[in-house]
Amino acid sequence: MRLFPILLFPTVTLTLLVAALVLTAQQKNDDAKIAPYYPTPETIVDKMLQLGELKPGEKMWDLGSGDGRIVIAAARKFKADATGVELDETLYKQSVARIKTLGLAPTARIILGDLLQQDYSSADLLTIYLLPVAIERVTPIFDRQLKKGARIVAHDFEFRQWAPAKTMDIDDDGEGRSHRLFLYRR
Ligand SMILES: C[S@@+](CC[C@H](N)C(=O)[O-])C[C@H]1O[C@@H](n2cnc3c(N)ncnc32)[C@H](O)[C@@H]1O
Repeated sequence: MRLFPILLFPTVTLTLLVAALVLTAQQKNDDAKIAPYYPTPETIVDKMLQLGELKPGEKMWDLGSGDGRIVIAAARKFKADATGVELDETLYKQSVARIKTLGLAPTARIILGDLLQQDYSSADLLTIYLLPVAIERVTPIFDRQLKKGARIVAHDFEFRQWAPAKTMDIDDDGEGRSHRLFLYRR
């Protein structure tokens, strides 16, 4: 009987350690989250990819890919090589499952991770639907990494330090909401 607390001690310590690690990982994830989930309507997805002049075989990235709808449209309708980055594990799993169901795995993929930590140097087109504060953080990364000729399409929120090559206003997305798209060229 006296041995029992001694045997229990390592188990309790290990449990506490695991719990602390899980909480730290969760906290890190929350800190990294720089935009809420708010999906782009499907009608606007197509317009973003058209405005970005996406061509078959080009490399496109969606930063904060949500349920994967832009990545999926880029691979399915535009025949591009599409990558999304998403921090939320539920949205990541949902988008990966849809990509698999649609048989798009060779040309569409989602990275579970932080969009501020990726290498975008080979991208031809990047799409982004993030709040201004997040765009401020992405700007220096794009300045450093993007190749000449890369295009960026931003939904509703602009890159304030750059002049857009084009803007597109959509008065009604079919649900009564208006949208503005911005095209940038590096
Ligand atoms: C406004 S939603 C846009 C979703 C999708 N791009 C669309 O247009 O339908 C922004 C997404 O960014 C994700 N997000 C926020 N911070 C992130 C980060 N640091 N790294 C990766 N994804 C992030 C959110 O979880 C959310 O799914």
